Amino acid sequence: MKKHVVVYKRLSAPLLARLQERFDVTCFDGVNETNRSAFETALRCAHGLIGASVRIDAATLALAPDLEICSTISVGTDTFDLEELKRRGIVLTHTPGVLTETVADTIFALILATARRVVELADFVRAGKWKRSIGPDLFGVDVNQKTIGCVGMGRIGAAVARRARLGFGMKVIYHDVAAAPAVEADYDAVRLPLERVLAEADFVCVLLPLLPSTEKLIDAVAFARMKPSAIFINGSRGRVVDEAALIEALQKGLIRGAGLDVFEREPLPVDSPLLAMSNVVALPHIGSATRETREAMAATAVDDLIAGLEGSKPAHLADPSVWAAALLKDASL
Ligand code: 8YV
Repeated sequence: MKKHVVVYKRLSAPLLARLQERFDVTCFDGVNETNRSAFETALRCAHGLIGASVRIDAATLALAPDLEICSTISVGTDTFDLEELKRRGIVLTHTPGVLTETVADTIFALILATARRVVELADFVRAGKWKRSIGPDLFGVDVNQKTIGCVGMGRIGAAVARRARLGFGMKVIYHDVAAAPAVEADYDAVRLPLERVLAEADFVCVLLPLLPSTEKLIDAVAFARMKPSAIFINGSRGRVVDEAALIEALQKGLIRGAGLDVFEREPLPVDSPLLAMSNVVALPHIGSATRETREAMAATAVDDLIAGLEGSKPAHLADPSVWAAALLKDASL
């Protein structure tokens, strides 16, 4: 009997065909109020799940008694109840690596857009307000030669640091629980306590996964430490930041501006005060959203799902100990 796979994000035809050649497949183009109950029904016989951007909590997992593997088309695994997956021995794979450079590009788009007021001034031209050479009231600030402070220095942090140092001649300072010797050697990056990164950076970039230890890490105290000229950039997860504190810091002029790709609530409510501020650039979570990268992420996720369901080790395990435990269980049967 073929295994059953539930797809909850649209896949390209070739990738979907790869799954359909091997498994019984039920597809959903996202999960919403309209199709939620059909999705939940499909879970009842699912052995594999593949998709992104849907909360898969313990109650959802409980609907899928035969589930063996979830393959998320994202590097972040925060939409899953990781403890419940582990308890049930359900393998989780994700897509690190293929999106690193694209997300780093997005971070730099936010840095340049906020510093040089790109969105605000493009709107100014479109509104027919460009009547003469612009004056100091519309000047931006330089990015080159400034100090970038990376809060988190993983794969994406290293790609941001490379652009900053080699492309823009910036000084790179960072905070992370672990040192990044290669980034220090290659881009003269200096590891500092969080307080110093916040206080010394011209651009404070959050590049952390959402974990219990990072939730609301950037709070009112953190914003108070930043320079009034600092620009705050978040392309990781909205909940790493206390958004109310960010709004207050912007309203009080504690920082110069913010470039944000992620928010506490997504989609960002249209009445968010952030959208009323001309010194904020808000994007709809586009970090990895290029045609090439999203296809590469989906291909990685499909490969790992097939491997897992066919009994070979997936290349991108979120928690290798769950795979090892599943192997031991099989061996003892
Ligand atoms: C998107 C991301 O959320 O990979 C991640 O963790 O945040 C993004 O790439 C995701 O891929 C949506 O499909």
